[in-house]
Amino acid sequence: MAFPEHRPRRLRRTQALRDLVRETDLAPRHLAAPLFVKEGIGEPAPISSMPGHHQHTVESLRKEARELAERGVRALVLFGIPAGKDPEGTEAWAEEGVAQQAIRALRDELGDEVVIIADLCLCEYTDHGHCGILRGEDLDNDATLERYRRIAVSQAAAGADLVAPSGMMDGQVAAIRAVLDREGFTETAILAYAAKYASSFYGPFREAAEGAPRFGDRRSHQMDPGNLDEALREIRADVAEGADIVMVKPALPYLDVIRGAREAVDVPVAAYNVSGEYAMIKAAAERGWIDGTAAMLETLTAIRRAGAGLILTYFAREAADLI
Ligand code: PBG
Repeated sequence: MAFPEHRPRRLRRTQALRDLVRETDLAPRHLAAPLFVKEGIGEPAPISSMPGHHQHTVESLRKEARELAERGVRALVLFGIPAGKDPEGTEAWAEEGVAQQAIRALRDELGDEVVIIADLCLCEYTDHGHCGILRGEDLDNDATLERYRRIAVSQAAAGADLVAPSGMMDGQVAAIRAVLDREGFTETAILAYAAKYASSFYGPFREAAEGAPRFGDRRSHQMDPGNLDEALREIRADVAEGADIVMVKPALPYLDVIRGAREAVDVPVAAYNVSGEYAMIKAAAERGWIDGTAAMLETLTAIRRAGAGLILTYFAREAADLI
């Protein structure tokens, strides 16, 4: 059918008509809120490059989580910032580590009303800021897996519903699945940061999580932005290793990867709308250069349209208030 019989504008005439034919929806249940908890601070500390966000105390974290849950945002992604760091990142698997304390506090506060997702990496815990154990200036993949296993068990023991390995070490999902099963945590799920790119959009996060590398960068493990086929190989490998959910990160510059993931595997696909994506919209809106609310909703809708079932986003609270 061609014009003049075909007039697509007929279905765009009123909001009711547009609602009737909308293909993508966005609800609070599609959103997961990343939260930072820092050891040894008396008050929540604002994060300057991420307006509206804080490094929380365990107490302020409880309050924030409750307010999110009241808005229908029930998935919480936890990042811990320890008071002390060392070359191995030992606080990452300490029973009284800040993330472990926070997981227990959230469970105590909200029970099974919320899904607790524990980010599993070493960069916030090592004094050099790298995601694993160094041999010289290089990451030792398999020595790092040994530490990831300990972190996974400690987070599962604290009560995490999902652990989310974000360090892009080879074999990390298989290593974690095996140790969780061996230690009796067969019901703890794995959200794999499967296709994580070496991106310039993580800047504000590194301020928030105090996890910037002291030297070098993360290109020995994070992916080249030019590659899609490689992302699909990573995603299929993580599913084969036992990932329950796979994630693409960042989101907005990688919508084709999200779509590719959706078509390549049949596990749920998540996308991480990262700190730089958040900061860009906030900064432009602050200058009056874009309508921040509209840009936020458009961004989240586009990520859903690309194929993400779940979006990790710093907009979770703000978006849930509107939708
Ligand atoms: C590393 C980690 C990073 C993010 C989540 N986990 C940063 C990095 O790889 O340097 C970035 C998230 C964001 O920018 O919002 N464990």
